[in-house]
Amino acid sequence: MSSVGPILPTGREHLGRVGFETGADVYERARPGYPDEAVAHLVATTGIVGGSRVLDLAAGTGKLTRQLHAHGAVCLAVEPSASMREVFRRTVPDVVATGGTAEMIPAADATMDAVVVGQAFHWFDPSRALPEAARVLRPGGWLALIWNERDETDPAMAELVRISRWDQAAPYPVGMDFGTVIDRSNLFGPVRRTKYPFVQRLDLTSFVEQVASRSYVQVLPDRERQDLLTKVAAFGATLGDPIAMPYITDLFCAPVAT
Ligand SMILES: C[S@@+](CC[C@H](N)C(=O)[O-])C[C@H]1O[C@@H](n2cnc3c(N)ncnc32)[C@H](O)[C@@H]1O
Repeated sequence: MSSVGPILPTGREHLGRVGFETGADVYERARPGYPDEAVAHLVATTGIVGGSRVLDLAAGTGKLTRQLHAHGAVCLAVEPSASMREVFRRTVPDVVATGGTAEMIPAADATMDAVVVGQAFHWFDPSRALPEAARVLRPGGWLALIWNERDETDPAMAELVRISRWDQAAPYPVGMDFGTVIDRSNLFGPVRRTKYPFVQRLDLTSFVEQVASRSYVQVLPDRERQDLLTKVAAFGATLGDPIAMPYITDLFCAPVAT
């Protein structure tokens, strides 16, 4: 099997964009939302209350947006991919989703109580995205970054990582301390990090789709993608029904510096 290595030199930022131009429906079906406990902690730490203005940056299909909307936040979603925005409009019809990027946020200065980023900060250029997040936050506002990471200490997940070639294609080391990236900007702080384990239960189709929804898989040539997904399906069939996928949610919250 050839390596996915050649994909990555096209640029992490580039892959973060083209890898989500297709497959939005698969993403919506197969990727987990965030554990309620983690979202409740995010809401409590950042002081989000009913009516708070929250910008969901890189909102995708709205998985995090809808959870914050349910807490009463008045959300604005920014998402560069038109196909992601299309699914977003179906799944979260009460929230406006607009085109834009983290490096050039389409919002006025000091207008947001919180900026949240689900499963996406690793795609950004932090040297441009963090000043932009700080710009749109009001004094006392908060930044929150959250990821659902597959728990690679679980032997089945470690094997899935190998079969799906995530070990060659991951855009960042799983479990990375993004707090240091935030700290280095001197624009936020101090950073508070919390982790929440949870288990997603999937049928075989969704198990294969959660691999298919990865950006590096989306951009593989057809035959290579099919080959990889066939191997993932064969492995998934050995894991029972439903398949239990352990995750760890990693949450970083930091107030904007005054
Ligand atoms: C893994 S999805 C996460 C979607 C959603 N936040 C969630 O929690 O499910 C990553 C998203 O980041 C978006 N993205 C990639 N690069 C971006 C950038 N520079 N600025 C804003 N969004 C970006 C992609 O279009 C994609 O929708």
